[in-house]
Amino acid sequence: MTSIPGKRVFSSRLLSFLIIISMFFLLLSSSLLFRIGDNSLVPKSIYNLIVVATVSNEPKSNSCNEICPESKPIKSFPSCTPNQAILKVFMYDLPPHFHFGLLGWKGNQNQIWPNVGNFSEIPKYPGGLNLQHSIEYWLTLDLLSSTTQNVPRSCSAILVHNSSQADIIFVPFFSSLSYNRYSKIEGTEKLSTNDILQEKLVEYLKGRDEWKRFGGKDHLIMAHHPNSMLVARWKFGSAMFLLADFGRYSNEIANIDKDVIAPYKHVVRGVDASNSPSFEERPILVYFQGAIYRKDGGVIRQELYYLMKDEKDVHFTFGSAIGGGARKASTGMTSSKFCLNIAGDTPSSNRLFDAIVSHCVPVIISDEIELPYEDILDYSKFSIFVPASEACKKGYLLNLLRGIQKEKWTKMWENLKQIAPHFEYQYPSKNGDAVDMIWKAVSRKLSSLQYITHRKNRYHRSKQFLNAR
Ligand SMILES: *[C@@H]1O[C@H](CO)[C@@H](O)[C@H](O)[C@H]1NC(C)=O
Ligand SMILES: *[C@@H]1O[C@H](CO)[C@@H](O)[C@H](O)[C@H]1NC(C)=O
Repeated sequence: MTSIPGKRVFSSRLLSFLIIISMFFLLLSSSLLFRIGDNSLVPKSIYNLIVVATVSNEPKSNSCNEICPESKPIKSFPSCTPNQAILKVFMYDLPPHFHFGLLGWKGNQNQIWPNVGNFSEIPKYPGGLNLQHSIEYWLTLDLLSSTTQNVPRSCSAILVHNSSQADIIFVPFFSSLSYNRYSKIEGTEKLSTNDILQEKLVEYLKGRDEWKRFGGKDHLIMAHHPNSMLVARWKFGSAMFLLADFGRYSNEIANIDKDVIAPYKHVVRGVDASNSPSFEERPILVYFQGAIYRKDGGVIRQELYYLMKDEKDVHFTFGSAIGGGARKASTGMTSSKFCLNIAGDTPSSNRLFDAIVSHCVPVIISDEIELPYEDILDYSKFSIFVPASEACKKGYLLNLLRGIQKEKWTKMWENLKQIAPHFEYQYPSKNGDAVDMIWKAVSRKLSSLQYITHRKNRYHRSKQFLNAR
C-alpha cells in the first residue's frame, strides 16, 4: 500500500517530463522543417517576414482572383496599427475621377473613396486584358481597408493621415486604366482624358507641400502599363515608380535602383497546388501562345516559331489570350511541362505569371526582363533562363528541355507550387500575396535608398551636425 502513492508521484512527474521533452522536440523539428539546406527559396533573414506568414495563412494559389466572396468582413479581427505595419503610407485624397471614378463609380456628395468595408459597394474592375495591369486597384483597396474595421488582411502597409509620419506618399491615380480606357481623343478635343488627367496630376503634385519637401523622392507612383503616364512620367523621375519593366523608360527616369517591379495579374485561371498535374500528366513539352511582333525585341518569336513549329510535342501558336483564348491558354499551360516566355515588344508580359500559376516551368528568353521581388526570390529554382542568342541556335532549346529529367522538373514544379501565391492579387489581401509582397518590396527599396543616401552624405552630414549650435 505504501508504495502506491510513491509510484503515482513518480509517474506523474515522468509524464510531465515526457510532455515537456516532446513539446521541445516538436517545436525544434517544426522550426527546422523550414530551414533545411538550400531548399529554401528565400534567405533566412527574410524567412520570418515571408515563409512564416505564408505558411500560417496558406493563401491558396487560385482561391479567389477577385474580391473574395468567402472573406466577408468578420467581427473581432485584430486591427492593424501603425506600429505593427512595416510601411506607413500617406495617400492623397485625389478626386474620384483619378481613380474609382474611372470605373464609373459615383459616391455621395463629397465622398472620395468607396466604403470598402461593405464588399458589395466596391466597384468592379473591367475584365479581359485590362486586368493584367490592375495593380493600382488592388493596392488602393488594400490601403483603404487598412483603416476600415473588421476587414481581415495582412498588416504590412497602413494608412496614416499625417504625411510627416509616413514612410511613403502614395499617389492613387489609376494610370493603366486611364490609358486603357480613356486614350481616345473625343470629337473636337485636342487632348484625350488620359492626357488631361496626367497634366492635372502634375499640377496637383507640384503644388503640394509633401512633394516640395523632398522633390517627390518619397512618392510612390503606379505606371504598370508600359504606355501609361506617357505625358507625365518625365516630370516624376524623382519618385519611386511601380512598373512592369523598364522597356519604355530612359534610365534617368526609371531604373532598378529606385523603382519596384510588380507582377502582372495573371489572366489564366491557374491551378490549385493540391491538384496540379504532375510530369506524366502534362503531355505537351513546350507551350507558347502569343502575338507576332515585328518591332523591338519581338523578332525572336518568329525565329523560334520556325525552329519549333513542326515538333509534335510542341504547342506554338500565335493568338491572343483574351476571352476564349484565356480558357484555352489555361488548359494548354496546365497540360505543359515548360512554358516559353519570349520577349515581345516589351521585355515582360503576363505570360510569365500565367505560367507560374499554372505550375508550368517558365523558360525565360528575354535578356532585358526584370522580375518582381528578385532580391528575395531566386527564380532559377523554378524557371530556366536562356539567352536569346543561344535560344535561336537550331536544336538548342529543344535539346535542353528534352534533357531535363522528371526528377529535376519535379523539383522546380514543387517550388512553383510554393511561390505561386506570391503572384495573386486579391481583396482583402492576404499574407504573402502580390499586394503584401509589393508593400514589402517597397519597404526594402526605401531601406536601400536610405543606405545609399546615408553613405553618400557621411562627411557632409557630420560637418553639418558638428557646426550646428
Ligand atoms: C452594403 O451595400 C449594399 C449595396 O449598396 C446594401 O444593400 C447593404 O445594405 C449594405 N450592407 C451593409 C451592412 O451596410
Ligand atoms: C504630424 O506629425 C508631426 C511629426 O510627428 C508633428 O510634429 C505634427 O504636429 C503632426 N501634425 C498633426 C496635424 O498632427
